[in-house]
Amino acid sequence: MARLEELGQVGAIAGGGCARLALSDADRAGRDLVVSWMRDLGLVVTVDAIGNVFGTRAGREDRPPVLCGSHIDTVATGGIYDGNLGVLAGLEVMEVLAEAGVVTRRPLTVAFFTDEEGARFAPDMLGSSVFVGGMALETAHDIVGIDGARLGTELERIGYLGSVPCPGLVPYAYVELHIEQGPVLEAHGDDIGAVTGVQGISWQEITVLGQSNHAGTTPIAYRHDAGYVAAATSVFLRGLARELGGDQVATVGRATLHPDLVNVIPGRAVFTVDLRNTDEAVLVEAEARLTEELTRLAAEEDVSIERRVLARFTPVEFDQKVVEMVEATATLLGHRVRRLPSGAGHDAQMLARVCPAGMIFVPSAGGISHNPAEYTSPEALLAGADVLLHVLVGLAEEPDGARQGRRRHGTDEGAGGVGASDAPDETTGHPR
Ligand code: GLV
Ligand code: MN
Ligand code: MN
Repeated sequence: MARLEELGQVGAIAGGGCARLALSDADRAGRDLVVSWMRDLGLVVTVDAIGNVFGTRAGREDRPPVLCGSHIDTVATGGIYDGNLGVLAGLEVMEVLAEAGVVTRRPLTVAFFTDEEGARFAPDMLGSSVFVGGMALETAHDIVGIDGARLGTELERIGYLGSVPCPGLVPYAYVELHIEQGPVLEAHGDDIGAVTGVQGISWQEITVLGQSNHAGTTPIAYRHDAGYVAAATSVFLRGLARELGGDQVATVGRATLHPDLVNVIPGRAVFTVDLRNTDEAVLVEAEARLTEELTRLAAEEDVSIERRVLARFTPVEFDQKVVEMVEATATLLGHRVRRLPSGAGHDAQMLARVCPAGMIFVPSAGGISHNPAEYTSPEALLAGADVLLHVLVGLAEEPDGARQGRRRHGTDEGAGGVGASDAPDETTGHPR
């Protein structure tokens, strides 16, 4: 709790939240603080070429580690729990094991991944994606952020361009504790979520090019109003989400008009669309319907439209055995558990590409997140950390062959230091 509060002070904003956009000065300060805690706990700290940071506690045997963690970057209107909880609970697990004199069979590693939020540099889950070979390192380094900065240059500037190669190690398993960021657990009076998977994500940036003109003299029929098209698209998306129903959500989270003046018709509008669904087929339909509507609006207003994909991830299902383990452990510890999918993106969905992965959710008060008012009670945080501790130890002690036919990559034999494996990755074809 003390670490959560202290890290929350780094980049603190009004209302009790924090702003640590990826690779900003505030992110650097947060990273330095967490690394100092890793060192205080005697963990071996390594940094990879995309700035992911790992703190490892040796096991009784030299094997691929059981990995936990999350992210410490935030959106500009972030709370103190999103991401930070998973990393700091990982540190807590290390401390508890040290105090109890327990050395696990497999090593335990706690990680924080670079730019999970994607709020400054899209896509989200960028560091974990590069870590599993989902995006080439060079491509990631060349990404330009919303402020015009280049990711690789910022990484070097803040001192986190590490030397460990990407893609990195194939862990034995990955478990991430996170706040739910939605209303489901609280609404049902449940303490712990056993997360079954993560919904698919489609982000795009849309640029509408019309014509700036006088707001008083230009009759409606003569306008090529980029602002109108942006607004009409936003209204269309709300109706589309309602019509598709179920899990479909749609958000226009960013919009800028040019020249952004009271008496000038906007000649250019740039806005983002965030579409998500647990059902890939419906998500594809939502994308197609958006395309149709943009084509129709472009003709109606006689404007041109350019589009750029910022992120596209299909829905992910977590490893059945890890989900069962989270559920069983939480039940054994006396908690009310519910299985549920995640609405937010998480590093665990990237790790799920290479190893058995799962997540533990704790309730978010009022379902509020990406907002300084984000809150989870100390009791709920403790419950989540407790489940994390026992699941990690269970995985770290698992006998060989416990998940035969389940691991998709590598074997459980041999040294598993960060960046140690060079077997080819079956999913991406990247050398690992
Ligand atoms: C990122 O974490 C997102 O879900 O937007
Ligand atoms: Mn998060
Ligand atoms: Mn977030």
